[in-house]
Amino acid sequence: MRPESENIDTCAALNTAPQSRALWQALAKQQQALVDTPILALFEQEPDRTKQLICEAGDLTFDVSRHAITSSTLSLLCQMLEERGFGAQRSALFAGEKVNNTEQRAALHTALRAPYRARPDFCAKEIEECNAQAARIADQIRSGVRLGYTGKPFRFIVNIGIGGSDLGPHMAARALQALNSPFEMHFVSNIDPCDIRQVLSQCLPEETLFIVSSKTFTTFETLSNANAARDWLCAALGSMDAVQQHFLAVSSHGERAAGFGISPTNVLPMWDWVGGRYSLWSAIGLPLRIAIGNELFDQMLAGAHQIDQHFSSAPLAKNIPVIMGLLGFWYGEFWQAQCHAVIPYEQRLEFFPAYLQQLEMESNGKRVTRNGQPVDYRTGMIVWGGAGTNTQHSFHQLFHQGTGLIPLDFLVGLQSVDPSADQHRYLFANCLAQSQALLVGANLAEVSEQMRTQGLAESEITRLAPHRVIPGNRPHSIFVYPKLTASVLGQLIACYEHKVFVQSVLWDINPFDQYGVELGKSIGLQVADALAGAAPADGFDAATRLLIAKFRAANGSH
Ligand code: F6P
Repeated sequence: MRPESENIDTCAALNTAPQSRALWQALAKQQQALVDTPILALFEQEPDRTKQLICEAGDLTFDVSRHAITSSTLSLLCQMLEERGFGAQRSALFAGEKVNNTEQRAALHTALRAPYRARPDFCAKEIEECNAQAARIADQIRSGVRLGYTGKPFRFIVNIGIGGSDLGPHMAARALQALNSPFEMHFVSNIDPCDIRQVLSQCLPEETLFIVSSKTFTTFETLSNANAARDWLCAALGSMDAVQQHFLAVSSHGERAAGFGISPTNVLPMWDWVGGRYSLWSAIGLPLRIAIGNELFDQMLAGAHQIDQHFSSAPLAKNIPVIMGLLGFWYGEFWQAQCHAVIPYEQRLEFFPAYLQQLEMESNGKRVTRNGQPVDYRTGMIVWGGAGTNTQHSFHQLFHQGTGLIPLDFLVGLQSVDPSADQHRYLFANCLAQSQALLVGANLAEVSEQMRTQGLAESEITRLAPHRVIPGNRPHSIFVYPKLTASVLGQLIACYEHKVFVQSVLWDINPFDQYGVELGKSIGLQVADALAGAAPADGFDAATRLLIAKFRAANGSH
């Protein structure tokens, strides 16, 4: 871990209250002491470290003992969170208050996975009805009662959506489909025509069901792909009427879906009090329901609800999402870390990092406080990752010998859902081995001695040893769970959702809007007109005009 000390006053803007300021200074002092203390030494200094810094909730064990913190650091960070009004803000979130203050909306993803009596009154019935509709449709499709235009059951399920209307169901279907799916699931999101073409080439029109998932039903990518799918289907089946049997929609604008030609009975609702990136639990999860069945889908909801209860009631120093949020804050503010890696040792979670990228970066990639004041501290971190062991053969080199500080999360199951797999032991071993290498490393004397035992000449040892040194002392968390069931997946996702919320409280930002993505969307439409020659390119800068001209020349759109 690269030692970088923090000027105690640098982040003073976060701390107007004298008490906060004192806390900040105490934390900065701890950071300065910890820079010179290897994490391994902390295990000796704190004999009950593994007890203090391991948390349990539901099926999850979350081990943060391999971090540059002590129990006292954690306690100071918890105090800081409390001082920011965390308790009241958390209650407001669960109660359905308008925590999305810019858009004046609630953010009630937690209600979607709560039992009826635990939901706020105003949405309890709507959620129940929507769940019942989604469950009925999923059953009909899975049992072959619902048929296509020519009377055949569905075999190919194609979700058309993007962002929150794609990443959650796509990630979760990949994670759980093997448990119980008779379908070929496909997810189309990109405006790149190759995406939809490639998927359609793998489907048979008579047996293909499309789900158009779009909260707004205005998203350009989704509507373009839905149009292409409708053209393909109707051309193959010889009638526009086929849309009635082959298209479902999920949207908070049912009238727009009806305008597309989808029967109102085939449109499931969405609400403005659920954010796109928090919507897996709603009807946006319909493709997942179809893929894995209602029972497993409900188990995923129940798993997430278990974490909601833990998040609501566990003491802060034993509260998994709270600790996740605090660690990110600690490394970002006090150690100048800029990114966070997530490495599931679980191939079926290969899309989890991509899902987290939207969840974390669209939520907390903000530059003003809830009141609109520019922040003068670091907010949302870059999130990235991939599925181990592939990542070991790709970018772990940077973790082990790079110069930047990259805190990371490992996720691993004690058992595989594939019972035939002795390979799982090696998967688990690799996770622990990476953790060990990151923590312990290998110093100059050790690598030199190792080369000596291999019989290398002293001159070779001198030449090579510095390249082989691995500093170790790289902080990381480990999530361990029994095996990747639907419930465990729900638990994991909910932990990361609440982590985002915790950090938004620490940074005093609204995690539930995403105005930053709008400008690029509107420029995109203007550029598209200019590329088609339908609008002049004069308004763009010289560099953009050059590329517009090149495109026009290549595509004959002068
Ligand atoms: O462009 C960002 C975004 O608005 C996301 O927040 C959202 O998940 C995605 O687009 C898709 O939006 P919709 O579900 O309305 O098509």
